[in-house]
Amino acid sequence: MRRKMAAGNWKMNGTQVSLAELAAMQGMSKGTVEVLICPPATLIYAGAGLKTGIAIGAQDCHVAEGGAHTGDISAPMLADAGATYVITGHSERRQDHGETDADVLAKTEAAWAAGLKVILCIGESLEQREDGSTLDVLAAQLKGSVPEGSTGANLVIAYEPIWAIGTGKVPSTQQITEVHRFLRTELASRFGDEVAGAMRLLYGGSVKASNAAEIFAVADVDGALVGGASLKAADFMPIVSAL
Ligand code: G3H
Repeated sequence: MRRKMAAGNWKMNGTQVSLAELAAMQGMSKGTVEVLICPPATLIYAGAGLKTGIAIGAQDCHVAEGGAHTGDISAPMLADAGATYVITGHSERRQDHGETDADVLAKTEAAWAAGLKVILCIGESLEQREDGSTLDVLAAQLKGSVPEGSTGANLVIAYEPIWAIGTGKVPSTQQITEVHRFLRTELASRFGDEVAGAMRLLYGGSVKASNAAEIFAVADVDGALVGGASLKAADFMPIVSAL
């Protein structure tokens, strides 16, 4: 039985005052539902210190443990600050920072080495969706960015169609069903049925309280990676409750 997951990615949003939102989410992570918030790096230490029961994650990590990399943060530093998860491969990192599948794979392995669990993001662009290459694109991203040694305990995959992020557009339930079934099958062919069956697959892209239940009803959707609607407890808590 896979534990459901509601993960919030605050992206480049949040200051000290936002910790009140995190505090208001206290108690939402329980039983069959795991709740994670990935605030900006500046809030990880304080967020973890609130001891809300909600897991705290980072949005990126460097591949090296330390060294001359101005402005970067290593996975051991994130773990030291109280993070237990890190997001790798978000499309905004791939687009804004030119991260390749190989980079994502290396970051994922670096995160594991520091004891962090990983939410690894993949997703097609609108152009790829329209030209019919979605499944090929996703297969290539899985092949290139998911490391050997992946298990249900160290890896969560998030399917985030780029065209659905922050746009209010959401794929049809048929489209989400097709993709998530495909991802599970691809993972099974590489890691075996047992490992693939234990891996959580999240959907991300314009999830909100009004569409969460419909998305969560799709087979092979184990939760969501939520951006904008995770910033306020009042918006995020109904999504968590829909799991
Ligand atoms: O990481 C989260 C996603 O990019 C989704 O963002 O919920 O604001 O569309 P969104």
